[in-house]
Amino acid sequence: MDGKRLKRRLSRMASVIELRDVSTVYEGEKRPAIRDVNLAFEKSEFAYVIGPNAAGKTTLLETINGLLPIFKGHISVLNLDVQKYGREVRCQIGYVPQDFMVDPGEPYTALDVVLMGRYGKIGVISRPSKEDKEKAIEAMRLLEIEDLANKPIGKLSGGQQQKVMIARAIAKEPKILLLDEPFSNLDPESRDKISKLIAQISSEHNLTTIIVTHDLRQMAESCSRTIVMNSGRIIADCEPRKALALIEKWNFSGFWRHNG
Ligand SMILES: Nc1ncnc2c1ncn2[C@@H]1O[C@H](COP(=O)(O)OP(=O)(O)OP(=O)(O)O)[C@@H](O)[C@H]1O
Ligand SMILES: [Mg+2]
Repeated sequence: MDGKRLKRRLSRMASVIELRDVSTVYEGEKRPAIRDVNLAFEKSEFAYVIGPNAAGKTTLLETINGLLPIFKGHISVLNLDVQKYGREVRCQIGYVPQDFMVDPGEPYTALDVVLMGRYGKIGVISRPSKEDKEKAIEAMRLLEIEDLANKPIGKLSGGQQQKVMIARAIAKEPKILLLDEPFSNLDPESRDKISKLIAQISSEHNLTTIIVTHDLRQMAESCSRTIVMNSGRIIADCEPRKALALIEKWNFSGFWRHNG
């Protein structure tokens, strides 16, 4: 799709993210990993997704990001059919995946990885401009990791790698942030700072932000909408305090295991 057409479609959009009766089945599996999901997210919305292991949280984010084929239903992001326009959609999404431990022999530096966030805009064969480099360094500065810029990514700690991935998502200047347990390797101080930073960036740039977490305390403190998943289904979509009350009532052991 050419740039002008894409822009026209983006400006006519309804919900930023819309899933209608979406089920995703992994290849070779019989049971859908998410089933009959109906959800809509608006511009500037900041939501958390919680649920026990295997609830379908990662599958939900990967489905929105166009990384998995859907078995049924319809999903649009920024008014584009994700199944048809996955690449265009991904250019507008800053995604931090759940698992990304990098091989220690990986030749890329931390700065190279953050710069990859710019490739959606500049294309993989073009050289990053001065501005791209400035955006990447600025994102690293916000995450307080600019001193790691020239270190090989595979030789950084798990928490440092996680900060690099968050910087990459921010350097992209996306319309949407999808963060899958982005704070799982961070110490409490970094977790607090970076969670505030993400809230601030989301608010300043009117981003639609969805964060998967097992950290219920942080969730309750930082968002206005919580989606609770279990066995591939959305079982609650409400404000965080109500979600916490429901979880307590249902006594989901899978939640508490991660929260001490
Ligand atoms: N690549 C895959 N192939 C087949 N089944 C998969 C695959 N990835 C996930 N699943 C299955 O899909 C279901 C949902 O998994 P998913 O990773 O979305 O859960 P989750 O809520 O993110 O869990 P966690 O809290 O452990 O990260 C699980 O039953 C899981 O076994
Ligand atoms: Mg997951």
